[in-house]
Amino acid sequence: MNPVVATDSVVRSLGPDDWPILRQLRLASVEDSPQALLCRPEVERTRSDDEWKSLLADKNWFAAFIDGRPVGIAACVTDPASGRRYLESMWVAALHRRGGAATELLNRACSLGRAERKTALFLWVLDGNEAAREFYLRRRFAPTGVKQAIGERIEEEFSRPLG
Ligand SMILES: CC(C)(COP(=O)(O)OP(=O)(O)OC[C@H]1O[C@@H](n2cnc3c(N)ncnc32)[C@H](O)[C@@H]1OP(=O)(O)O)[C@@H](O)C(=O)NCCC(=O)NCCS
Repeated sequence: MNPVVATDSVVRSLGPDDWPILRQLRLASVEDSPQALLCRPEVERTRSDDEWKSLLADKNWFAAFIDGRPVGIAACVTDPASGRRYLESMWVAALHRRGGAATELLNRACSLGRAERKTALFLWVLDGNEAAREFYLRRRFAPTGVKQAIGERIEEEFSRPLG
């Protein structure tokens, strides 16, 4: 896979041998942002090596690196019912935010969708996550009008065209 080079970061797909990077980034993200990612760090911490390998194989994962250190992550999954591509698990380490890493991760997800001839990319944003909402609105996403409850939380669906 050819890495996308930004001013000071590199984003690339994670391959089968990259599960320790997935584990490192995923654990960092759920510790930092459990509310935004709607996950339980105590559950993620119990995953075995085989479970990390399986999680890696189940989705298309991208990671952002700065000076060789992993600082951000995102995944693309296919909704089996609709065939739509959804972006999820987006996270950038707090020290490196507002530097373009999430934009590069998003660009890789869009490139994958275009290569698969998808016409749009979808995602969900949980209530109260104004930073993510602002980020996606500035990058051509718009609400689809669909909202759903997850326990006591509400998440809103966004999409952007892949033209
Ligand atoms: C949302 C998130 C991924 C953005 O990452 P990032 O690396 O800061 O994003 P980029 O640098 O590529 O883009 C930054 C742009 O996003 C928007 N943005 C990001 N954070 C913002 C904030 N707190 N308030 C307003 N706008 C914000 C702005 O348009 C900003 O551009 P600017 O810096 O020129 O104003 C990051 O804040 C994050 O990891 N949050 C915690 C996890 C999370 O919420 N994930 C999304 C789940 S749906």
